[in-house]
Formats: sequence, structure tokens, C-alpha cells
Amino acid sequence: MPVSEATAFAPATVGNVGVGFDILGHAFGVIGDRVRAARVAEPGVRIRAVTGIAGPLPLEPGLNTAGQAVLSLVGAAAPPFGIELTIEKGIPLGSGLGGSAASAVAAVVAANALLDAPLPAIELLSHAIAGEAVASGARHADNIAPALFGGLVLTVGIDHPHVKQIPVPAAVRCVLLRPHMFLATQQARGILTRLVDLSDVVWQTANLAGFLAGCFTNDLPLIRAAFEDVMIEPQRAKLIPGFRQAKRAALGADALGCSISGAGPAVFAWCEERHAEAVRAAMLAAFRAEGVDCDHWVAPVGGDGARILERR
Ligand code: HSE
Repeated sequence: MPVSEATAFAPATVGNVGVGFDILGHAFGVIGDRVRAARVAEPGVRIRAVTGIAGPLPLEPGLNTAGQAVLSLVGAAAPPFGIELTIEKGIPLGSGLGGSAASAVAAVVAANALLDAPLPAIELLSHAIAGEAVASGARHADNIAPALFGGLVLTVGIDHPHVKQIPVPAAVRCVLLRPHMFLATQQARGILTRLVDLSDVVWQTANLAGFLAGCFTNDLPLIRAAFEDVMIEPQRAKLIPGFRQAKRAALGADALGCSISGAGPAVFAWCEERHAEAVRAAMLAAFRAEGVDCDHWVAPVGGDGARILERR
């Protein structure tokens, strides 16, 4: 029986996880986007509506992350029918929580379920990356891969990516705050210098390696020591009022580390479960002292990736 309609959910994600610019990210399934894909007679891709908490988003498929992702999938799979998308945004726009990636991933997962011979998940990655590039202006998978597969994910390569799920010590929690402001990913990428000091490259490399080694060996002191982005965060900190104060507050409350989620303005901290409420309270107080209100969540790191909610 052909599937005529499918709805998929994809979670929010913390991109970069500080030390892994454009290559490391983890799912944060407390919030996410849903996309319904339906078979239609007219060939091609069209977007019926965008609902939920986002402001106005383009309905032109080539300008929309979900639309572009499905255009890419349709280009490869050439189904004998058209696909109509309905996008329900649960992730605020310009928040640093991987909203573009979630829409792109949910869209390809839902559209793939309509195909007579659905593609394996790894083949959906490049189509979702093509979709997210519409919003961020660059191809990278640090939000896409965890939104698709779940967990903490390292992605090596873009055209033929290797995706590796990294174990996370069970005691670790993620405290995530979203300041009530909009920051365009393209702006936060546009300010980044193309020239990086060699000593910073050495530190960043050591920190990424130490961070991953700490995750694999359940070594919280190593994760703490390595949890410092010396390349990207210092350039972006000025874009987020209250970030430096919130980071100081998180570390003062015994967080393992704190950084900007993706391109920001969301800010996350990793901490042991027993410190999570104190870390949350300290970060919130620091933002409030700067006059910045935030949404806030605490959850385990990772969790499930995209999934089909309904098909018929
Ligand atoms: N890794 C990306 C960045 C995430 O930090 O710009 C947002 O697309």
C-alpha cells in the first residue's frame, strides 16, 4: 500500500558543542519541528503552509530549508508524484537551536516515507544539508546529523560524510537557555575571521580531541579541561548580551563547560545532574541582571533523532 501522507518530527540541536565548530552537535529533543508530506498529482515540491512559533518564512520551496531539502531528495529519487509540505515550527527562528536543520531533516524524513523505495537515513543527510544551507549560507552537518540520528554526533566530510555517534557520560545534563532575541546565522558566520592564529588551532585541536576522549572514557575532569572554544566563541560573544556573565555564572556553579549553541544566541552548559538546577538558576540570574529574559530547559545530552509520527 503506497504511503499517501507522513508526518515526521526532528529535534532541536546544540551545534558546535563549543569545541567542534561545524562538525559536532547533539540532539535536544525537548522541542522540535514537525513536517507533514503528502503525495500530490502535480509534480515537484510545494509548501502548503508554515505554522507554529516562527515568523513569516518563505513558501517558495527553493528559498525554504524544508522545501530545498525535499527538492534535493526529489531530484535524486525522481518519484512519479509531487510532494506537498506543511511545516509546523516548534523551534524559534534565529535562536541557535538548529531550527533550520530540524525543518530540513523532518521534511526529508517525511518525504522519504512517501517513496516506494525509501532511501537509507545516511543518504538523507546530504539532502538535508542542502536544505539547511539556504538559511545558513554554508554546508555543514553539526545540526543536521544529530537532528537526523540523535545523540552526540561527529560528522567528518560533507560530500561523503562519516557520521559517528559519541557516547556521553550518563551523569551529564545539558542546561539550555534561549535569550529572547533574534540572531541570523548568516550574520554570526559573517563576522568570523578567515585567519586563525596557529596557537589557537593547536589549542582547539587539543580541546576537541580531549573532549571526545573524555566522552569515550567517562572522564569528566578531562571534559571540563577541554571544554573551551578558543576560536569561534571569543568572536561571537559580543553578539549576545549577557553571554560572558552567564558563562561565568555557569562555571561558578560547577558546570563542566558553557558555550554558545550553534550560531547563538542560545547558550548551553554541560554539567553533572546534581548541579543542573544550580547552573540553570545562576545562568538565568546572570542574563536577567543584564535585562535579558530567556526560555530555559534541562535535559540529558542527546536523545532520539528524527522519527515518523504518523503515516497513512
Ligand atoms: N555550526 C554552525 C555555526 C551552526 O556555528 O555557524 C549554525 O548553522
